[in-house]
Amino acid sequence: MPLKHIDAKDVVLELGRKRNSEFNYDAVLMRCISFYRGLHMTAVLEGSGVRVINSFFTSNTCGNKLLSSVALERHGVKTPRTLVAFTPAAATRAANTLGYPAILKPVVGSWGRLIAPLKDEDTAEAILEDRTYMYPLYQVFYLQEYVNRPPRDIRCVVIDGRPVAAIYRYAPPGEWKTNVAIGGTSEPCKVTSEIEKIAVKASKAVKGEIVGVDMMESEEDGLLVHEVNHTTEFRAAATTTGVNIAEEIVKYIFRSLKK
Ligand SMILES: Nc1ncnc2c1ncn2[C@@H]1O[C@H](COP(=O)(O)OP(=O)(O)O)[C@@H](O)[C@H]1O
Ligand SMILES: [Mg+2]
Repeated sequence: MPLKHIDAKDVVLELGRKRNSEFNYDAVLMRCISFYRGLHMTAVLEGSGVRVINSFFTSNTCGNKLLSSVALERHGVKTPRTLVAFTPAAATRAANTLGYPAILKPVVGSWGRLIAPLKDEDTAEAILEDRTYMYPLYQVFYLQEYVNRPPRDIRCVVIDGRPVAAIYRYAPPGEWKTNVAIGGTSEPCKVTSEIEKIAVKASKAVKGEIVGVDMMESEEDGLLVHEVNHTTEFRAAATTTGVNIAEEIVKYIFRSLKK
């Protein structure tokens, strides 16, 4: 089967056509790094009858932390305690309710960017005020309890409802965020039956086909899922565990096309 690598930056898509001539493919594996590009391109392709992996629903849900948390809660997946508010004053109340430090996250964002630990009420007010000078999306205030955990989290790659590999991600020295993009390091993690159960449930909650489920080991509450990634990065997971994740992805696409 022919395979083509397409750069979203080069395409022109016409709406309202069955199978855009440029996109007469059986399936598209969406790997856009830009969330908005990927999401909107997925919408257009699905609209013209192309099967996109992951789907628009999954991308839209995973790409927005608030929508993800709602989906996870609804499906009984344990997540960190999260409060939402729509003005700085209400968000300060939310931070006071959570206690300090609390964590403020943009609802759309990745690689740990713009995630701010709110150390006390004064800092909270200053950072929340800052956000009022930003795009309205940043004024949907998503605040989370700071989870008391070891300096690492777990990324479990789930394909077609099956965990294929998991790693611990360690925060770089002097950092509390564990993102590989900011220099976090990784170690293999055994997929225990508990990790498997939670990762599969989280993947189903967002109707994910190929996802990276991130969880933290809370000292009080056990494993808590804080994020499900729909264009999951897997270089660290593949090199650390030796699992050929790229091959697993390709095999899944072929399998799903035969169904
Ligand atoms: N509630 C929390 N308590 C403690 N650490 C957190 C919490 N939420 C996120 N982190 C840390 O910050 C990192 C980035 O947060 P995450 O929600 O995954 O955002 P991003 O999409 O930017 O990766 C996580 O990988 C984790 O190490
Ligand atoms: Mg993350």
